[in-house]
Amino acid sequence: MKIIHSISEIQQLSRDLAQEGKRIGFVPTMGFLHEGHLSLVNVAKQHSDVVVMSIFVNPTQFGPNEDYDSYPRDAERDQKLAAERGVDYLWMPEVSQMYPKGEQTKVVVTELTRGLCGPFRPGHFMGVTTIVAKLFSALQPQIAVFGEKDYQQLQVIRRMAKDLLMPIEIIGVPTLRDEDGLAKSSRNVYLNEEERKQVLYISQAIKAVQQAVKKGEKQVQKLLSLGKDILAQAPDLQLEYLEIVDAENLQKLEVIQRPARVLIAAYVNHKRFIDNGALT
Ligand code: PAJ
Repeated sequence: MKIIHSISEIQQLSRDLAQEGKRIGFVPTMGFLHEGHLSLVNVAKQHSDVVVMSIFVNPTQFGPNEDYDSYPRDAERDQKLAAERGVDYLWMPEVSQMYPKGEQTKVVVTELTRGLCGPFRPGHFMGVTTIVAKLFSALQPQIAVFGEKDYQQLQVIRRMAKDLLMPIEIIGVPTLRDEDGLAKSSRNVYLNEEERKQVLYISQAIKAVQQAVKKGEKQVQKLLSLGKDILAQAPDLQLEYLEIVDAENLQKLEVIQRPARVLIAAYVNHKRFIDNGALT
């Protein structure tokens, strides 16, 4: 596996691979890799000839009171895990390269970022779409792989690629979970045993809603109260939102008639967790 830092090198790689007729599969991450990230590499491999992974903790997607400075980082471990999984090129740019001095260009997806995490994390999705557009622009991959773990992000990026006429196929990958159901996340390292128990109510609530839908319940109000009852059993869990929305446009639903998604964001001891599941 080759490690690349500079933008000129990544642009050269992109030209070389295009000339050789090779398809680039891209996996953007913020590092502190876990099995969830690595499952995206497996999918990228299935759809491309060369896999490029980026690791970049993107400052513009963190709010002023969020954990940019304390976000877990371990470059050496990440390099080892990426190489073992068969990443061909690991791209680790510097902040000053991704945001050249004087930068003033932003990418904004409007409607899809208005609800769910949008109002609770002002500027977050603008940070995500801006950095992903920059990474896409420098590398020009044919395929890019994202996790359903961040479902709103996935839909926002699909919309951005479509709207900006980017010739990139966006592939979504189901959430990888620990055996107890907890969605794998870089931020799980912050959790002690008691906190983990509380966070588990999130995936349990999602599962319960999914099961109720399978059994035939279609009324969103009923499904939401079922989910809320489960979350209320976790004494230290503070719910930010629990919503059931159309799986594509993320608009709230009253009745489940087409592909839908249940999404939850909640805090346990000031740490924020999100999770979601498919409903049809
Ligand atoms: P990060 O949180 O590092 O996640 C990188 C990718 O891994 C995202 O597509 C995310 O959805 C996926 N992922 C995380 N946990 C997963 C799990 N348990 N199962 C499957 N996939 C999982 O998301 C970001 O970084 C950033 O916002 C980024 C897109 C890189 C832009 O900075």
